[in-house]
Amino acid sequence: MTDKTEQDRVLIFDTTLRDGEQSPGATMTHDEKLEIASMLDEMGVDIIEAGFPIASEGDFEAVRDIAKLARTSVICGLSRANFKDIDRNWEAVKHARRPRIHTFIGTSPLHRAIPNLTQDEMAQLIHETVTHARNLCDDVQWSPMDATRTEHDYLCRVVEIAIKAGATTINIPDTVGYTAPRESADLIRMLIEKVPGADEIIFATHCHNDLGMATANSLAAVEAGARQIECTINGLGERAGNTALEEVVMALKVRNDIMPYQTGIDTRRIMNISRRVAQVSGFAVQYNKAIVGKNAFAHESGIHQDGMLKNPLNFEIMRPEDVGLAETNLVMGKHSGRAALRAKLRDLGYELADNQLADVFVRFKALADRKKEVYDDDLVALMQDQTSPEDDRIVLKSLKVVCGTEGPQTADMTLAIDGREQSVHATGDGPVDATFNAVKSLVPHNARLALYQVHAVTEGTDAQATVSVRMEEDGYIGTGQASDTDTVVASAKAYVNALNRLVQRRKKTKPEAEVKSAS
Ligand code: KIV
Ligand code: ZN
Repeated sequence: MTDKTEQDRVLIFDTTLRDGEQSPGATMTHDEKLEIASMLDEMGVDIIEAGFPIASEGDFEAVRDIAKLARTSVICGLSRANFKDIDRNWEAVKHARRPRIHTFIGTSPLHRAIPNLTQDEMAQLIHETVTHARNLCDDVQWSPMDATRTEHDYLCRVVEIAIKAGATTINIPDTVGYTAPRESADLIRMLIEKVPGADEIIFATHCHNDLGMATANSLAAVEAGARQIECTINGLGERAGNTALEEVVMALKVRNDIMPYQTGIDTRRIMNISRRVAQVSGFAVQYNKAIVGKNAFAHESGIHQDGMLKNPLNFEIMRPEDVGLAETNLVMGKHSGRAALRAKLRDLGYELADNQLADVFVRFKALADRKKEVYDDDLVALMQDQTSPEDDRIVLKSLKVVCGTEGPQTADMTLAIDGREQSVHATGDGPVDATFNAVKSLVPHNARLALYQVHAVTEGTDAQATVSVRMEEDGYIGTGQASDTDTVVASAKAYVNALNRLVQRRKKTKPEAEVKSAS
């Protein structure tokens, strides 16, 4: 348990890999989860909720392997209120230097009706399951799901039971994003005042963003005495998402004058992890999102630009470099060399080995040939482009599209499928449709296109487009992203990337699944 004498220290509990990954379509691969977990560990996250071990073999393995790799963070897994879930959770987290079992049950009238338990029966179950968890692990977190819609008397009663049974952290979830800041604070204050043993444990706040108040509700809970904030990178999560890590951490840093609490987060790593989570989850960050949005530090109007030049404090309450946005004047172009590229990428948060740099340099030169000036965002897009990882079975070789006012639009495409080149001529309702039809006729599949999104990376008609594609088939999800100055080429690459990932994912669980190429 954390030293309660550190009254101003707020623990950051990141649940990107559990609550975040739960949001429809945000599924990550095993390797991606491990990579994000190491980034969280390195940036100083106190507790990483790595998954829900009973949910699937894949979730179990991810939690177990993250537990093995974490250096300083506590590694936590989620379990429902039954012994089987809790045992499975322990099997996964026990490998961590600092393991934690998190167990929960819905306590509001609506949620009690689901297992059809009376208040007394549920109270008994909480006592038994928390006791069981505590017999396995010294660090146990308990959550009354939908706490903010639970009767106060009953909430106090079950929190007391959980504390007596050995819970060391009590998390108070606003599961449906229903509460408001004053109410969020009052609830924590009431629990601290009324529940015997409350001063021996840490209270956590876990807010969803259905009314856009998650960050405000979390901070209000801290002011009332909560000392753990549960959050996700980019606010990823079910429906409208969760409290965003970057928002609460930067709010506590920037407004330390009125909220004198500390976190252990290295804020300069924020941009980097935000970009990576956006990439692997397939959920692009909205441009005007606080802290990590593309426009969060952009100044467009003349008055603002003039004010910025005179003194950045006129229009910026934090420095871009505080969140890891490098401010450099180095403009890259086709004459830039390898050393300049390495320095620029380092500023952007990418530390590359020599062989990785060699690969990126080739792609950078190809881009610089097509684009006069290569901006920071172009380089980030280049780094995030998943085109042609070595184990891809489908590779785009060439694409020629004819489009215009007279349809139908056509696409002539060549793909290498398992090393064998195959070509097709396809038509469609627009150039992207023709291109996707071409892929589909070369690689017949039943996957549904669940998302197709295009973002212009920078301004100008020669700007790169970043395209995100999400495919779904039999409960498997594959996401792909690609960037190119040609939007249709970026679309084709993103589609192919998504298919490759779908095939890899199926293969992990269904070894018999194969790419069915049309001959
Ligand atoms: O929102 C919620 O209630 C949860 C619990 C499982 C903690 O995510
Ligand atoms: Zn939640």
